[in-house]
Amino acid sequence: MSDTARKILVTSALPYVNGHPHMGHMVEYIQTDIWVRFQKLIGNDCIYVCASDAHGTPIMLKARELGITPEELTETNTKEFVSAFEDFGVDFDNYHTTHSPENEALVTEMYEALRASGDIYTRTIEQAFDEKEGLFLPDRFVKGTCPRCKTEDQYGDACENCGATYTPADLIDPVSVLSGTTPVKRESEHYFFRLSEYGDKLRQWMRDATLDKNVVAKLEEWFEAGLQDWDISRDAPYFGFRIPGTDDKYFYVWLDAPVGYPASFKHLCDRRDDLDFDEYWRPGSDTELYHFIGKDIMYFHTLFWPAVLQGAGFRQPTSVFAHGFLTVNGQKMSKSRGTFIKARTYLDNLDPSYLRYYYAAKLGPTIEDIDLNLDDFIARVNSDLVGKLVNIASRCAGFINKRFDGQLAASLPDTALFEEFAAAADTIAGHFENREYSKAMRIIMGLADEANRYIDDNKPWVMIKDEAQLDAVQAVCTQGLNLFRSLMIYLTPVIPAVADKARDFLGEEEWRWSSVSEPLLGSRINKFQPLLTRIEQQQVDTMIEQSKETHPETVAAAAAGDDSISIDDFMKVDLRIARINAANPVEGADKLLQLELDVGDGTRNVFAGIKAAYDPASLVGRHVIVVANLAPRKMRFGVSEGMVLAAGPGGADIFLLSPDDGAEPGMRVK
Ligand code: 2FM
Ligand code: ZN
Repeated sequence: MSDTARKILVTSALPYVNGHPHMGHMVEYIQTDIWVRFQKLIGNDCIYVCASDAHGTPIMLKARELGITPEELTETNTKEFVSAFEDFGVDFDNYHTTHSPENEALVTEMYEALRASGDIYTRTIEQAFDEKEGLFLPDRFVKGTCPRCKTEDQYGDACENCGATYTPADLIDPVSVLSGTTPVKRESEHYFFRLSEYGDKLRQWMRDATLDKNVVAKLEEWFEAGLQDWDISRDAPYFGFRIPGTDDKYFYVWLDAPVGYPASFKHLCDRRDDLDFDEYWRPGSDTELYHFIGKDIMYFHTLFWPAVLQGAGFRQPTSVFAHGFLTVNGQKMSKSRGTFIKARTYLDNLDPSYLRYYYAAKLGPTIEDIDLNLDDFIARVNSDLVGKLVNIASRCAGFINKRFDGQLAASLPDTALFEEFAAAADTIAGHFENREYSKAMRIIMGLADEANRYIDDNKPWVMIKDEAQLDAVQAVCTQGLNLFRSLMIYLTPVIPAVADKARDFLGEEEWRWSSVSEPLLGSRINKFQPLLTRIEQQQVDTMIEQSKETHPETVAAAAAGDDSISIDDFMKVDLRIARINAANPVEGADKLLQLELDVGDGTRNVFAGIKAAYDPASLVGRHVIVVANLAPRKMRFGVSEGMVLAAGPGGADIFLLSPDDGAEPGMRVK
């Protein structure tokens, strides 16, 4: 390791704050946080910034749906992300938002520079437009039949069945996900960035940056396919920054999102005298810049972003570190299986250190997916952290506390063993540096086995029975605690909360990476408190139960509007006009009427709880709205084949929704 501290700026991808933080998000933030903590521990000047990604159509529409402003939506959701980060020990030096003055100033500066150098041009393009909603539709807001394999209900950018990629205009029978209407094609002027001119420069950057071979392979593929110019504008209405010199054009969210990295750093510089923005962001910088990202956003970070930085007169990333996706029990996270686990649901049930350790034990430097196998999670955490690691301390601490008044021996009986632990420092550091965390964890747990063997071989619990061996007990336990201490120092980046407790227990103020080479001798330790307890199966079961979409709290939250249904869910409900052909009381039922409904393509038998409010005879001939695709329900009096919509508190105060103006049986309700 070099003597001079490196200056390093690190980022994690900015979370899109239209939803909740979940276990998938945490892979990246924990991976990055471990790396940053490691850098700080070995004495580098490392700064970790992030922000909420706040702009774009999905956030604008979600806010509209909830009847709040996009600013309010992003502020509320940001709080949830920030508290999850804090509770998982993800320690940013700064967390900001892309909807900030710093970001707007930087995006504008970059855009002006690109425009001045001829990298921006305008072109009129045709796009899907929703006339009912009055907005241009992003690809994912148009659905239809795949033009290649004819599978229905596919998004406007790609087919999930055959993998074909296309534009919404290629879909057969396209519909707007927002309004259910058929989008029209409409022209609009867009702003483009000449990415196509950056091929050579990007190839050079690819060679200079130390990228994982999978990332390089992906880049080669993209170069081979040819770089297309990039559409960086969106039409109003849009939640974002207006493009200077226009009335109704906005920067596309993916242009200003990565600018959130320097913007968050700028926000930090404005509060810290020791940091200079230009030192980190201008060409020729001696500092290092790393972006941790998921493999799905490589295109943005390895092509668009370095090109924009270069064209606009900024430095380029030293490297981009991409990781894979998270699976749970070998499959995609799923709400029905209860494996779509929100960060908060995890935290309500389990200690964050468990997950930090487990992710570390699984993580390598590649884009391979990692699996959270819950049985393995319980077994591994209990065996490694509790059974091996914490056990070393608990086996030794009692003797020192009770028989030696907390006093450690003045020397080690086995310095060679202590030295062996210290000698692992460089290898473990190399693994942390290279994001080979699983390798680091294997070495550390191998050493933990050795420490336990040392205690097994020396048996302080036997020696303590012999007064003549008391000094030896103190020495052996001092040795054991020193081995434990070395391991905890190595694990500080991974489980900082546990390491803090361990350091307090050992009576030390501060640890550095180099502390592993100086043993702790002759000092007094504090009373041992259990550092971590075993995971019980029940805790995991409860977490899974609480994550299921059928869990009462999830259902209640949905009813309260907290977990609102998507437009896709809503579109599944087939609402139709029906005419009441006949209405009759039901024998033996106080509240029900039996209705015969004409739904256009036949009649349906439906039971409705409206007897207290309506005289059956008055209903015949009226139009009502019916849920036509409700699965038939067997009731005591017969099968009900739908549900009529009504409003009101119930009893006599219930009002059928009864559209009469020209509505005909069978018409779809929109
Ligand atoms: O993929 C995402 O969730 C984006 N919000 C990541 C943005 S990273 C950076 F470019 F801002
Ligand atoms: Zn297809």
